[in-house]
Amino acid sequence: MGNDLKFEVADNIMNKSNDGVNVVDKRGVLIYVNQASADYAGYRIDEMVGNHITKYYPQAVLLKVLEDRQPILEKRIHYVKNKRYVVNSYPYYMDGEFSGAFSIFRSIKEIDELNKKIKYLELQLELNSVVEDVPSMIGKGGSLSEVIKRARRTVGSLGGPRHSIIIGESGTGKTMVANMIYNYAKEIGVISQDAPYIEINCAQFTNSDIAAVEIFGSEEGAYTGSKRKKGLFEQANGGILFLDEAHALEHYQNLLLKVIETGKIRRIGGSKEHRVDVIVIAASTRNLKDELLPELYQRLAQYEIYLPSLSERDMREKNELLEYFIMKYQEAVKNLHEIDYKVVIEDDAREILLNAYYPRNIRQMRDVINFSIDSASPLIDDINRDKEIITRVGIDDLPFELIGKDNGKNSKRIDKTIERMINAYHSDGMGARKISKELKHKGYEIEYYQVAYFLKKNKA
Ligand SMILES: Nc1ncnc2c1ncn2[C@@H]1O[C@H](COP(=O)(O)OP(=O)(O)OP(=O)(O)O)[C@@H](O)[C@H]1O
Ligand SMILES: [Mg+2]
Repeated sequence: MGNDLKFEVADNIMNKSNDGVNVVDKRGVLIYVNQASADYAGYRIDEMVGNHITKYYPQAVLLKVLEDRQPILEKRIHYVKNKRYVVNSYPYYMDGEFSGAFSIFRSIKEIDELNKKIKYLELQLELNSVVEDVPSMIGKGGSLSEVIKRARRTVGSLGGPRHSIIIGESGTGKTMVANMIYNYAKEIGVISQDAPYIEINCAQFTNSDIAAVEIFGSEEGAYTGSKRKKGLFEQANGGILFLDEAHALEHYQNLLLKVIETGKIRRIGGSKEHRVDVIVIAASTRNLKDELLPELYQRLAQYEIYLPSLSERDMREKNELLEYFIMKYQEAVKNLHEIDYKVVIEDDAREILLNAYYPRNIRQMRDVINFSIDSASPLIDDINRDKEIITRVGIDDLPFELIGKDNGKNSKRIDKTIERMINAYHSDGMGARKISKELKHKGYEIEYYQVAYFLKKNKA
């Protein structure tokens, strides 16, 4: 093959590539550009060849290769029109003499975006994870000390492990306590290290027949098209079955009672019985005494654990929760982005976060804190990684509905008269602190942060 033909074949191949290719001579003048590179730069190939590479790629890695005559591989990312590239650059020699350099590069926009998405999901996962061990639980020496004692007793008492019931409003830590019981049972050897932990949300099933099959399993031919299938109860054998929202058990309570009483399970449509040894933890936001068959209730309620709502916890504990969620956020960001990162909650925002009413309890408080930090944080693209990043959370960063009219305990204190006065003072140009002071003089107990929040709310 003649040289021209060889070049034509090579050029054809190059132009099919999604990777960009640039070749420059010793001075940095482009002597070859493939189609992908021209596309990236937004020019035509024939326009580019013969010009200096910096005209199209101002920060070309090639320039450094021309200087040092050393290859530069991978990870060198540079920017052209906000695009990022992974570049491999090499010097080349002709007849043993250094003659220039070439580079092969690829836009990593998609990889980058995917990575960002994954990182974001990882962050959310980390922030939403359920505490599983007692040392991390806030209130272990306070509002939860009885809870923890009882929870340990359910599986650790001398009489052998027992079933139990956990009652608490939404977001108070029921799942957390169930997890803790499981870990404790493993720790003391009541169940083995690899014992299963199976969680069923009883309210998730649209139809009680489906639920029965999922929980108790089925034999082939039990119903049209049914297969032989182990139910979740059997899968929990030797470990723990966590029945969340147990008030939704409805029709299959009888079946459950039978399994618990006899220690034997019969799959739907089957005749054979299988032995099962399972510790059941049932949780609910409702009082299960009113929801379950009395016999089933009695079996499960050998230990009943009540979780206090957030409003029953004292200010010190609320503050500990706040600090804990801030710390978790900082840790998650530090690990994920490898930056020095700190969150500061300004006093007025802190007051509101601590005094707000959270109907969905600790989960909601956590979500509100995460949301507020999120909205105060810079975008990851905009930060300088070499410096400590400090995020200051102020009133403006708090979610709008935080002290909504209908669910806010604090907002009850802002009645129509006070509202009118605040608005009047505000249109006179007074700030929140001044307004609060004026109102206090008049005998209305209203803090400056409440005024500030009220004003913010009305503005939005
Ligand atoms: N005392 C605590 N200390 C630290 N984190 C807690 C505490 N209580 C709850 N949390 C956290 O709050 C979140 C909600 O808790 P959990 O999921 O256990 O509540 P739940 O009662 O099961 O809620 P739901 O009724 O919605 O199922 C979890 O992320 C959990 O780790
Ligand atoms: Mg739960």
